[in-house]
Amino acid sequence: MHVVKPQTVGLSSALRWRVRVGLGKTPGMRAIVITKPGGPDVLQLRDVARPEPSPGQVRVRIRASAVNRADLLQRAGNYPVPADAPQDIPGLEIAGEIEALGAGVTEWALGDRVFGLVGGGAYAEAVAVHARTLARMPANLDFVQAAAVPEAFVTAYDAMVTQGGLAAGDVVLVHAVGSGVGTAAVQIARAIGARSIGTARTQAKLGRAKELGIMAGVVPGGQAHHGPPLFADEVKALTGGRGADVVLDLVGGPYVPESLAALAVKGRLILVGLLAGARAEVDLGLLLRRRLRVFGTVMRSRPLEEKISAACMLDHVLSPLFASGSLAPTIDRVMPLEQAAEAHAYVASNEGFGKVVLTL
Ligand SMILES: NC(=O)c1ccc[n+]([C@@H]2O[C@H](COP(=O)([O-])OP(=O)(O)OC[C@H]3O[C@@H](n4cnc5c(N)ncnc54)[C@H](OP(=O)(O)O)[C@@H]3O)[C@@H](O)[C@H]2O)c1
Repeated sequence: MHVVKPQTVGLSSALRWRVRVGLGKTPGMRAIVITKPGGPDVLQLRDVARPEPSPGQVRVRIRASAVNRADLLQRAGNYPVPADAPQDIPGLEIAGEIEALGAGVTEWALGDRVFGLVGGGAYAEAVAVHARTLARMPANLDFVQAAAVPEAFVTAYDAMVTQGGLAAGDVVLVHAVGSGVGTAAVQIARAIGARSIGTARTQAKLGRAKELGIMAGVVPGGQAHHGPPLFADEVKALTGGRGADVVLDLVGGPYVPESLAALAVKGRLILVGLLAGARAEVDLGLLLRRRLRVFGTVMRSRPLEEKISAACMLDHVLSPLFASGSLAPTIDRVMPLEQAAEAHAYVASNEGFGKVVLTL
């Protein structure tokens, strides 16, 4: 894991912030703001108002967040922000401490260590969220580790197990296996007794994914990823001709027809990401003959009730697996919030393996 230290000249960043906003005034906070749609350099550190929790909400003092592809899309102006989320502060996951309680909140006490998904606003010192969309941090995780969990593990479990019905003994094909979601999926599959096959565009990432538990890895289109992204024949061969029970597809585009061809009878394709594009031509006859099912999923725009369900799953299903050591976040690097622009450029480079965490 690579840790980038914040650069401080003279005053600490906290003190510089207090000087800027003025001691004793209504507290503000530091946040990374998308100043206009564009490249990483449109992300600027600004002083903004600290959000007040409404009834039923809490304010969390964020200690760490993490970068997601959706943040990059939002920064470029290609991801509409839900109406109830901060419009210009990106960030979808947090780990921190309860700092203030809105009216009627009884589940949490000040100082409780929490983590979870948020609709936006995580690249900031604090965020106000519904109290029941948070989960208690496992005691054995620190804030950096906990911030690397929610998007990757909740997305992977929800897609693969809750929706895809992955069970012990099944085989799941995980695309972009070195991604945050991919590294989580491999561990979840192993934890529930399923086997996984991973795809990545480099052998180096497949080698690292083997350490996490994939039974085999495939570079689509051949060793150097030069040809069209073919992998169905290899998946069939690796499964004795049967095919995979579930495909967790984080890539989309030309991976989709191949993924369908790689599925077993009654197999399920769960489309989670569109890194390779939003269009594909598929053989619909294959869906009929093999009785396949295709799901699309997204976490961010779900209604409150479903976000509360996701937090319950994090609390009651995933947290015990972190506490027992069956799951552990895969962290590529840790960078201070001030370096959010560099963090975005790094994620876009596709060089990473696992999560990029931002500290505050
Ligand atoms: N639906 C949801 O709610 C939800 C939630 C979370 C994430 N997602 C989506 O899931 C995907 C993965 O997210 P993440 O944060 O885990 O990603 P990540 O950690 O940033 O990793 C993405 C990896 O995908 C591979 N990749 C990138 N472009 C590709 C392409 N054109 N073809 C094949 N592989 C490509 C790269 O690895 P290699 O090149 O080395 O293979 C890259 O390192 C994203 O599309 C994201 O938007 C969706």
